[in-house]
Amino acid sequence: SRSYKIAVIPGDGIGNEVMPEGIRVLEKAARLFGFNVEQQWHDFAHCDYYLKHGRMMPEDWKDQIGKPDAIFFGAVGWPAKVPDHISLWQSLLQFRREYDQYVNLRPVRLMPGVPCPLAGRKPGDIDFWIVRENTEGEYSSVGGTMFPGTEREVVIQETVMTRVGVDRVLRYAFELANSRPNRHLTSATKSNGIAVTMPYWDARVEAMAANYPDVRWDKYHIDILTAQFVLNPDRFDVVVGSNLFGDILSDLGPACTGTIGIAPSGNINPDRTGPSLFEPVHGSAPDIAGQGIANPVGQIWSAAMMLEHLGETEAASAIVAAIERVLAEPSLRTRDLKGTADTGTCGKAVEEALG
Ligand code: NAD
Ligand code: IPM
Ligand code: MN
Repeated sequence: SRSYKIAVIPGDGIGNEVMPEGIRVLEKAARLFGFNVEQQWHDFAHCDYYLKHGRMMPEDWKDQIGKPDAIFFGAVGWPAKVPDHISLWQSLLQFRREYDQYVNLRPVRLMPGVPCPLAGRKPGDIDFWIVRENTEGEYSSVGGTMFPGTEREVVIQETVMTRVGVDRVLRYAFELANSRPNRHLTSATKSNGIAVTMPYWDARVEAMAANYPDVRWDKYHIDILTAQFVLNPDRFDVVVGSNLFGDILSDLGPACTGTIGIAPSGNINPDRTGPSLFEPVHGSAPDIAGQGIANPVGQIWSAAMMLEHLGETEAASAIVAAIERVLAEPSLRTRDLKGTADTGTCGKAVEEALG
């Protein structure tokens, strides 16, 4: 029967609380839909590992991970133990680059019954995808500090855009837009102020659009785009942005649908030259970690995205449908969604709704 090797990396904080719920639902889906999941748990890429070994991952981490069909990831970071730029650049950001996961795909969807912070919006009004460039752009290792500690101190970090890097994520976004009924793509830019890389981004969007005559497209500067997310979220279908803009938009979008706690993501290598990585959009949430109150839906929905990527489309849709049924019920929702459930109650409810 069909079998998938999944590398499991829970990470820090609530990563350890939501991961078991994601696994619970993944295992239930496997039983129901007749496939096998072979889990390989990895006890690295978390801040206690760093405190013990002076690095986030072993030197041979790539060999240890091997060739899984996908990576299922929780969240990394605990700034009181390790500075964020160290813990993240030595783990998640390294995975994205080493495995060429150049698309970060993040849905924004208002779910039935979930209280929406924007007045007068109903499910269906907010339903779009963010396609975030995931391996270059503002997240760059080009730059440095000059004259450190002196009056002449200078810090520089260059934004890097390559033609290959920009075009491949734009192609993915246009393909996605072309496959949706509305065939609409919005590009995030800031070409009025960032006068080299952003005009380049705009020019590549325009060039790529020529290949997709059926896709209606527009662009907004990032400042007004954030306002449009709040004022007119029904306007969007596929939104594509650079690494940093996509990062910001993919917290804002889900927040407009009630919470970032339900938002999933796929860090996808569409060429399949390496594994893709699936994780919630949120982080390790030190402020609520250890209390058993984290929303597990972002992790569970990420499992659905992973199964979709692996070709288990029926199982993936069934999980999303189960999530929808659970979120409609306040006693099964966590408190970020004005519910009363704890993490396990919500996760078990999705497991049950699936059967
Ligand atoms: P965060 O996403 O961890 O938390 C932001 C806020 O949202 C907090 O108030 C938190 O309690 C709440 N929240 C997040 N997830 C939730 C959930 N599932 N249920 C209920 N509430 C939830 O962002 P942050 O506080 O900026 O970062 C904390 C740490 O996580 C930092 O080290 C940061 O670098 C890291 N981080 C990691 C990832 C990742 O691994 N992909 C993503 C974002 C942040
Ligand atoms: C995300 C996170 C990461 C990012 C951080 C933790 C480096 O915010 O996955 O959205 O900025 O990509
Ligand atoms: Mn983010």
